[in-house]
Amino acid sequence: MKTIIANWKMNVGSRESVALARGVLLALKGKKQLPDVVVCPPHVALGEVRKIVARSHAALGAQNVFWEETGAFTGETSTRMLAELGVSHVILGHSERRRLFGETDEAVGKKIVAALSAGLVPIVCVGESSTDNAREFVATQLRGALKGLHLRHKERILVAYEPVWAIGTGVAAQPADAVSMHAFIRSLVADLLPGVKASQVSILYGGSVDGANAYAFLREDEVDGLLVGGASVKLSEFGKILEAAVSVLEARAA
Ligand code: PGA
Repeated sequence: MKTIIANWKMNVGSRESVALARGVLLALKGKKQLPDVVVCPPHVALGEVRKIVARSHAALGAQNVFWEETGAFTGETSTRMLAELGVSHVILGHSERRRLFGETDEAVGKKIVAALSAGLVPIVCVGESSTDNAREFVATQLRGALKGLHLRHKERILVAYEPVWAIGTGVAAQPADAVSMHAFIRSLVADLLPGVKASQVSILYGGSVDGANAYAFLREDEVDGLLVGGASVKLSEFGKILEAAVSVLEARAA
């Protein structure tokens, strides 16, 4: 399976989110082989977008969550609040949250536990900046975030490999480099989560994915999907990314 996640960031309000969600559903219409699609609007638009994607092929994701269930945490949102809104996935540890809001691996770890216990699928973002040793850096992030975690039978986790230098820059990783990092992440996650089955873990690529390069990533078996930022708020571009996923899936089914 391939999973395409649209991270709309703080780029659209409720009205635009609804229009985008409608456009995504339209782009999927009539296709036989569909990727899993998750749209992640800002929190304030979740309720409205839910009405559009309910009973459709697309799932609803959030861009962040807090780990506590209730209490005096001004401005925060809990996993149960998201679940009540029909959210099924949540992006955690995005590099913008790490850089701008001081999110640590430990905080990401707590969020993963909270998300899983509310029945949400965590999308854990990792990735090095241009000055880091990529494997070492990503391994440290994953060890910190997955420490002590045990996935239950039906639980799943998505890891998005997003090199920081590729996010929003127009310079994507080379697919071959992503493939080798994905293989590394896959084996590391298997070590960190003993007993986990391959089907419980998906590794996605993110960072300057667009309509022109999506296919080159998606045709790789190591790439279980894509996390798309900038190109996900442009319907024509996002439509091409969905098309690329459909064509990979159709070729496999043939
Ligand atoms: P980008 O963002 O596609 O705009 O590079 C990806 C992300 O931030 O998840």
